[in-house]
Amino acid sequence: MFRAPKLTKPGLFITATDTGVGKTVATCAIAWQLRQQGLSRVGVCKPMASGCRRDREGLVSEDAEAIAHFADCRQPLNIINPIRYARPLAPAVAADQAQEPPDFDALTRSLELLDATQECVLIEGVGGLLVPLHPKKPQWTVLDLIALLGYPVVVVCRAGLGTLNHTAMTVRLLREAGCTVAGLIINGYVPDPGEAMATAVKQSAQREANQSDKETGAVAAPVKASSADTLQADPRDDSMTTNRIWLQKMNHAPILATIPVCPATSVAPEKGRLPDAILDAVGLTYWPDVLRSPLPLGEG
Ligand SMILES: Nc1ncnc2c1ncn2[C@@H]1O[C@H](COP(=O)(O)OP(=O)(O)OP(=O)(O)O)[C@@H](O)[C@H]1O
Ligand SMILES: [Mg+2]
Repeated sequence: MFRAPKLTKPGLFITATDTGVGKTVATCAIAWQLRQQGLSRVGVCKPMASGCRRDREGLVSEDAEAIAHFADCRQPLNIINPIRYARPLAPAVAADQAQEPPDFDALTRSLELLDATQECVLIEGVGGLLVPLHPKKPQWTVLDLIALLGYPVVVVCRAGLGTLNHTAMTVRLLREAGCTVAGLIINGYVPDPGEAMATAVKQSAQREANQSDKETGAVAAPVKASSADTLQADPRDDSMTTNRIWLQKMNHAPILATIPVCPATSVAPEKGRLPDAILDAVGLTYWPDVLRSPLPLGEG
């Protein structure tokens, strides 16, 4: 069904414990940091994308646009993202509904072209590990694709409650399939849950005061925007203080970055926007070394 591409350059496969956990944000930041850290040709690939928008050129994936931008990868989007579907469903299901089987030969050609023209290749996965990719082979998932390609894997995981289970399941499956886990990226970390909570309470009191000022005709003082306005994580989630150490202990994998939760308006990688807080958090790791993560014995 899928001819494995012949790959000669180093690369990383960026997966996550679920969809929407931060693969695109992490891939963009890694690509950007690899360029800062000395690589001039960073290739990127989103093998399959669903939920694509339709424009004059056809279907376009925002994830592909984002990773291409931060990597400054000059290849056409249909090379970076060879398989595209309109409906926001798992790729196998989107393919089934569109009655258009995925063209894995096109993916092989894309990866060989990126390998031949770039110094390294970053691949952003789709959803989590067991997302099905082919309508006729429902057992064939992202995990099989990762194992076939052989790149070391970066796992993006949530910062809060539930992440220990989801991350351990992901890491265990990867290792059972013979993949190298290069490390974890914790995304959406609230630096100090206690302080974030206090800020949120203070701001809500301030908003109420402004509201009553409005009612009495007084001029309201502007409320300073802060990350507490847009927290995606529950600021009371105590597990954030212990998850980092437990993720390390349970998985014997390095934490490559801990990315803080940022105001939603500042995080728009598809428009070329990522806050310094995210880029800097990922920049604490020297990524050329991660590209050289050793493969399991007997491979590579
Ligand atoms: N640290 C962060 N702070 C604030 N918002 C974030 C952060 N990380 C990700 N987001 C937002 O969360 C959403 C999901 O992130 P992202 O698109 O990177 O996930 P994904 O794993 O690539 O999802 P998909 O499975 O759809 O490819 C996006 O809207 C993104 O802007
Ligand atoms: Mg994505």
